[in-house]
Amino acid sequence: MLNQDLSFFYYIILFAIYCFIGWVLEVFYRSFSQRKFVNAGFLFGPFVPIYGIGAFTVIVLQYFIQSWHFIPRCVAVGLSITFMEYVIGFLAEKIFKLPLWNYSDRRFNLHGRVCLLFSLLWTGLAVVFSEFIHPEVFSRVASLHEGFVKPAAIAFMIYFWVDYTFSVMSLASFRNAVAYLYEEYFNLSNTEIEERLNSFQRLRDAFPDLNQYINQNINKKIRNRLNSILKTIQEKIILEMEGRKPFEKEYYETVGDILQHEEFLKLKDYFHHNSSIYSHVHDVAYFSYRICKYFKLDYRSAARGALLHDFFLYDWRNHDEPDLARNKFHGLAHPTIAVANAKKHFSINDIEEDIIKKHMWPLTLVPPKYKESYIVSFADKYLSSREFINEYKKRISQFQTKKGRKRKHANPDASK
Ligand SMILES: [Fe+2]
Ligand SMILES: [Fe+2]
Repeated sequence: MLNQDLSFFYYIILFAIYCFIGWVLEVFYRSFSQRKFVNAGFLFGPFVPIYGIGAFTVIVLQYFIQSWHFIPRCVAVGLSITFMEYVIGFLAEKIFKLPLWNYSDRRFNLHGRVCLLFSLLWTGLAVVFSEFIHPEVFSRVASLHEGFVKPAAIAFMIYFWVDYTFSVMSLASFRNAVAYLYEEYFNLSNTEIEERLNSFQRLRDAFPDLNQYINQNINKKIRNRLNSILKTIQEKIILEMEGRKPFEKEYYETVGDILQHEEFLKLKDYFHHNSSIYSHVHDVAYFSYRICKYFKLDYRSAARGALLHDFFLYDWRNHDEPDLARNKFHGLAHPTIAVANAKKHFSINDIEEDIIKKHMWPLTLVPPKYKESYIVSFADKYLSSREFINEYKKRISQFQTKKGRKRKHANPDASK
């Protein structure tokens, strides 16, 4: 619905209203999925321009296709809105040099900029918008007095360009911060790394796909470094350690106080993978200790940190314990819980804290800081997968024995 009698300023007000409605929708969606208030969009103010642009794409298109039947009209709206999202995604990547959204892990996507599911969703929204919302909003805006509309539109335009300029600058400094972290990662302290990432928390909440961008950029360098270490571990240490139990006096001297601590012993009561958490962390600690000793690293911190890496006293299969809040995901939350428990009962150094906090990397965003942490993280994954496989094999063989017994019971002559 367009009206040639209305001045340009009325359309600016309409644009502002639709950007604001878009912001409200995005805030609901983001806040609901992240369970906290999220100021959506890349602008600081409560406006999301892509919704305004989308609304105008639909309004202009409707002007030309209003005589069409409903279904072809929906198809035309869907195609135009998808095309618009693709173009804006492409331009955002060129202008900001950042992918603000990324659908590449969704099915039927094109270059990660559009995907079938969201295109259908936008089409539905656009149809509701053009049939119900726009006629209502348009008639109300058109009835406003020009003496109010003109200054309001000018004020909005000035505000918009100021906010846009600062927001683009903020995106640029975010990009620079990631580049800086990528270069200087191993020379910065953990606190500095966290401070830098936290200063962009709003952007990261508003565009969760940016976390993937950070992950890909920072982790690229680290993965290259890790590959050479992993090869040595595979060739030299795993083969040599096969089937051996911890026997070194020095190892027990290093971790003895933890192993005998009353609170730590409770880990024996919690099942993990195929045995208790106690036995899992013990294996990871000894394995990490041996690897770090081989590479002449701080094997004491590695052993202590690894021993405490899963120091959580609850059953992670049932989220009914007070330590793990109901809305938290165990995989991401337990390192923080383990750090708190470790600090409560022992004194831990920086390396040990880093080991515990980052042992789930790359599931957690911030990569480890110390070589010892990478080794424990690797040891944990390697041994956990072995524990899982062993448990799986055990269950399969139990199942087959049970089935065999049942068959024998049903047909006692079969084995004769
Ligand atoms: Fe863990
Ligand atoms: Fe673990």
